[in-house]
Amino acid sequence: MGTRPYMFVLLVLTAFVAVVVQCSQLEKKKDPRGTAYAGSTACVSCHRDIAHSFAHNAHFNTSRLLETAASIDSLHLPEGQFIFNEHTKVGIERRGDGLYQIAYVNGKEVKAERIDVSFGSGKVAYTFAFWYDHKLVQMPLNYHTGEQQWVNSPGYPSDQIYFGRYIIARCLECHGSFADKRLVKTEQFTVEEEFDKASLIAGIDCERCHGPAAQHVAFHEENPKEKQPKYIASYQALSVNRKMDMCGICHSGIEFQSLDPIFYFKPGDTLRSLPQFSDYMGEDPDVHGKQVQLLKASKCYKIGKLDCTSCHDIHQDKKSSLQAYTQQCISCHQDFNSLHTNLSPKNKASLADNCIDCHMPIKESRDIGFQKSGTKEKIPYWQHTHRIAVYRELVGN
Ligand code: HEC
Ligand code: HEC
Ligand code: HEC
Ligand code: HEC
Ligand code: HEC
Ligand code: HEC
Ligand code: HEC
Repeated sequence: MGTRPYMFVLLVLTAFVAVVVQCSQLEKKKDPRGTAYAGSTACVSCHRDIAHSFAHNAHFNTSRLLETAASIDSLHLPEGQFIFNEHTKVGIERRGDGLYQIAYVNGKEVKAERIDVSFGSGKVAYTFAFWYDHKLVQMPLNYHTGEQQWVNSPGYPSDQIYFGRYIIARCLECHGSFADKRLVKTEQFTVEEEFDKASLIAGIDCERCHGPAAQHVAFHEENPKEKQPKYIASYQALSVNRKMDMCGICHSGIEFQSLDPIFYFKPGDTLRSLPQFSDYMGEDPDVHGKQVQLLKASKCYKIGKLDCTSCHDIHQDKKSSLQAYTQQCISCHQDFNSLHTNLSPKNKASLADNCIDCHMPIKESRDIGFQKSGTKEKIPYWQHTHRIAVYRELVGN
């Protein structure tokens, strides 16, 4: 009985120490991008609805740090294996602290790496990486969510296990919010990228699109009655070109390079000022990741001046339906019935249900495909093209 008060004091002390440690950690945990940034948790108190739906959004989940076993479990990935040939396979196995990709040659384990980071929201597929000192290295296998199977990473050799491709900052610039990188010379006089692990902000967060907002947060916290937004760019006030640039920094492919990290690109900045930026030149861009070039080649953009948000509700937590997109088409093309007099009666009858499959048809990406286990066969990567046009070959007239 006599030990009780002593225990109590000890408990209070521990709690006190825990609080002090936590506070000092909070104070230390400044946003790695600098003091102009507030971090996305700072937005929740005033923009609750947006923040809540955004938590399930593809942008926000397009990369994740899987530091704990629980975080990897939340992706619901099954164990499994990928067979390259009778001698070589990669196993996916759950071990104490997480999920591992393990290379087996003639039945013997030769390499095992823990999945540390994922890329992709899982709409189509996840790519994985592990830390090798301060470098991020891509793993041999992707997980294809639609087909529910482990597949060879796109662009990887089809007959051997490959553990050697570095994840470069460019992946993170499109699939994340920040990573402080450092260039190091190797013994072969090539240059490699290393990251400061603690600086990595996975997922595309609020300020990645809206720009630094610490001043906005501070102002509105001090002036809670002020309902007019201050110290934050208004998307609607941008010109249509600057609106396209805001998405184009990640949705116009990888043909441009920038000496400055594009993490600091903010609303109102222009892509044209980036060195080596190439705009649509009349060629046929791949459907993967080039929505801006494709849309810019459409009359709806050139004449109709529509932008990405004409059809996409950016903070939504789920995919929109093709019927909902069709309503956006009809809002501008109310006379659509009179434009289709030449179509067959069958096609005419279903016109109003789905403009998309005829005017933004699904195309196969030339750049990406996922090799299945035990064969050379690939699962194609299909996307709706964003070049809105008349595709006569589809309807046969
Ligand atoms: C203390 C309250 C508060 C906090 C915290 C806050 N905001 Fe705001 N924000 C406002 C108010 C008030 C408005 C204007 C009314 C509205 O649009 O909700 C606004 C509007 C905005 C707008 C629209 C601007 C426009 O002109 O269209 C954006 C974008 C925005 N905030 C982003 C952010 C981001 C990003 C964060 C977190 C880093 C954040 N806000 C945190 C109060 C806040
Ligand atoms: C992928 C880019 C992107 C990300 C990430 C993003 N937004 Fe937005 N946000 C936009 C765009 C584009 C608009 C303009 C939408 C429109 O006017 O149709 C917008 C509009 C807003 C507005 C004003 C209009 C409204 O709907 O109230 C607020 C406030 C806002 N965003 C807050 C946030 C917050 C908070 C987060 C993070 C939880 C966030 N945004 C993440 C692109 C983004
Ligand atoms: C920082 C880079 C970045 C910016 C800026 C960005 N995106 Fe994205 N966007 C991505 C990536 C990466 C994905 C793939 C997400 C995934 O993993 O599924 C994506 C996916 C999408 C999707 C499909 C996701 C879904 O929910 O179906 C749409 C639509 C989209 N982006 C529109 C926009 C628009 C509109 C803007 C500008 C307001 C924008 N994006 C700005 C990187 C970006
Ligand atoms: C220029 C921006 C950009 C770069 C660089 C980029 N991606 Fe993407 N990525 C996208 C966009 C946009 C999408 C989704 C829409 C699409 O395919 O057009 C996407 C889709 C994906 C998907 C499928 C997501 C899903 O859930 O279906 C994965 C996985 C992926 N990227 C991994 C990577 C990796 C790994 C790298 C680096 C080797 C990389 N990406 C480089 C923009 C980019
Ligand atoms: C913001 C308004 C707007 C929206 C939304 C819109 N369009 Fe258009 N679209 C236009 C304008 C303006 C033109 C040019 C009309 C002309 O040539 O007189 C056009 C042209 C077209 C053309 C003719 C293309 C060509 O090359 O001849 C097609 C087909 C078309 N739109 C289909 C669609 C479909 C399908 C959607 C929905 C996915 C859509 N549009 C959404 C405004 C819009
Ligand atoms: C006229 C309507 C319209 C406009 C404008 C539009 N999109 Fe889309 N977007 C769609 C449709 C329809 C889909 C296909 C959705 C599906 O398959 O469920 C789509 C899908 C996407 C996807 C998912 C990948 C894919 O192709 O399936 C991304 C990423 C995307 N859009 C980005 C953008 C960006 C960036 C812009 C601006 C440059 C933009 N969109 C403008 C209608 C539009
Ligand atoms: C079954 C395929 C199909 C569907 C569904 C369809 N279209 Fe079309 N559309 C066509 C074809 C083919 C043409 C060329 C018409 C012609 O020359 O007879 C066309 C022509 C057009 C044009 C005029 C292009 C020009 O020559 O200027 C517009 C605008 C258009 N469609 C919009 C829409 C909209 C909006 C919807 C949805 C409400 C839609 N279409 C649904 C196949 C389709």
